[in-house]
Amino acid sequence: MCGIVGIIGSTSVQSSIIEALEKLEYRGYDSAGIATISENEILCRRSVGKLSCLKNELSNAPVLGKIGIGHTRWATHGAPSIDNAHPHQVGKVALVHNGIIENYNELKAQIISEGGIMVSETDTEVVAAFCNMFLESGMSPEEAVSSTLGQLKGAYALCFIFEGNEDLIIAARKGSPLVVGWGVEEMFVGSDAIALAHLTNQLTYVEEENYVVISRKEAKFFNFEGKEQPSKKVFVNSESVLVTKSGYRHFMHKEINEQASVISYALGSYTSFDRKRILLPNQIPSFAKMDRLIISACGTAFLAGHVAKYWFEKISGLPSDIDIASEFRYREPIISKKTGAIFVSQSGETADTLAALRMAKSNSIETIVVVNSENSTMARESDIIMPIKAGVEVGVASTKAFTSQLLVLAALVIEAARQRKKISPKQEEEFINQLFAIPRLINEVLSRENEIINICSELANAQDILFIARGPLYPLALEGALKLKEISYIHAEGYAAGELKHGPIALVDSSVPIICFAPSNILYDKTTSNIHEVIARGGKVILVSDKGGLSDFKGDVWKSFEMPFSEPFILPILYALPAQLLAYYSAIEKGTDVDQPRNLAKSVTVE
Ligand code: M6R
Repeated sequence: MCGIVGIIGSTSVQSSIIEALEKLEYRGYDSAGIATISENEILCRRSVGKLSCLKNELSNAPVLGKIGIGHTRWATHGAPSIDNAHPHQVGKVALVHNGIIENYNELKAQIISEGGIMVSETDTEVVAAFCNMFLESGMSPEEAVSSTLGQLKGAYALCFIFEGNEDLIIAARKGSPLVVGWGVEEMFVGSDAIALAHLTNQLTYVEEENYVVISRKEAKFFNFEGKEQPSKKVFVNSESVLVTKSGYRHFMHKEINEQASVISYALGSYTSFDRKRILLPNQIPSFAKMDRLIISACGTAFLAGHVAKYWFEKISGLPSDIDIASEFRYREPIISKKTGAIFVSQSGETADTLAALRMAKSNSIETIVVVNSENSTMARESDIIMPIKAGVEVGVASTKAFTSQLLVLAALVIEAARQRKKISPKQEEEFINQLFAIPRLINEVLSRENEIINICSELANAQDILFIARGPLYPLALEGALKLKEISYIHAEGYAAGELKHGPIALVDSSVPIICFAPSNILYDKTTSNIHEVIARGGKVILVSDKGGLSDFKGDVWKSFEMPFSEPFILPILYALPAQLLAYYSAIEKGTDVDQPRNLAKSVTVE
């Protein structure tokens, strides 16, 4: 989970590499480095901390050269330190790596037994050491890389440069994404299109288990057996990947505020012109033939899938399981021919979700991916793609991708219900009308942001916070807790409201705020009973409900937040807003780094 970039330019590449790394910082930001070749010599600078630290270092000691590689790191093996930062240079080769070399211990032992010295604690340095060893044995750079790849187990995107050769980058991919960008007398390679958006709009996605030999004039693609492969150029709209904060203090805040328009846009893509039918943009899943649905994802995407489980079972009558992707893969699930599988991912590159998708595919069942990045590995490997059309999401805390995932999952649920004859055309139209109310209701919630700021001025002092809710809002309690932990570092847990009395209520005292999502619907009475149990034990309740729910509540709440009234179907999408805003403004109170919280990365491409 690091960002890598390589450039063969027509002028000095330092500033273009740094700009690319700025775009890739969402993939990791605990250390960074750059290596160029000037006058046949490899020049390397590395620093601990965010990219700004590397920039400071470069302002004192710039690197010259028209060829170079860069890296922004999310540590897997070895703490953030200069020695562990990339690029790693051994002899005549320097490289950057995203992924994990699983057999590095074995390889390291071999290098040490042959008299080699390893200076870092990383899994990456062995790759440079092996490549250099092969170069020293007389192999060409391409032969040396190819032989090195033959030694490696695990996942990687790698980018190599070679001392004495200012017109050659070799990059390889297995399990981690890699894209080549085409310029005029310039070539680029990086972890994703965003990294290269300021340089070119002509891209070729490197296929799995392929490597690419890049010179200033061209790129040639090969499979790991060394056979040249055809390549396809795609043209991307640079505007769609160039992102700015547009005046907002943080990307997260901007992305929260984009949700009404993003959902309107997705709705246009998933419904008929007369708003009477769901119209899926690509292939249609065969829900009518399924007797069971598996939904799998990680983190916030998993929680979107968790809501969808409630919807699929209630509205379309399709038995559904929800699984954390890293568990699904190893628990040997029973998969029959009539099982369908949905994978949800913003990035489309999350290693655990990708592995789960591949596992489902190996069982020959229909796979559907609900994804933001339409050129991602998951989008390319699944049978059916359902794009969420949320635009680039930069904030590490997922916000607009979550609500857009829910919107697309809701469309799939309605499609499934129609196919399975569980709803009439009139009911389908009613559901669609409810979806069309979402943008207006989101804006209503956002117009009350100041009230959330007031709540957070006190909430942020808490050491522990609980979230509770019932039914399809239970995953929102989990999401509220996840978001809060992630960016404010306050310990928070989400519980099904009815579960509190089975243990967690022991935590309740006057120092623990309990945020309760309790709209006035069929579950209101049961949820408020649980709230009374909390109040009776001195708990400080923040009640989030609609006007009716707040006025019907007979008890002392610490604070409350009024939500607009809405139909039960769309509640999970609307209640995402207070969950996100409570986390955002608590983080602001605490002064944490909202867009780049500690220890995290946006795209988790290691298992
Ligand atoms: O790209 P994905 O949607 O597959 O990512 C999954 C999770 O890593 C992600 O949702 C993570 O939990 C977010 N940081 C939560 O805000």
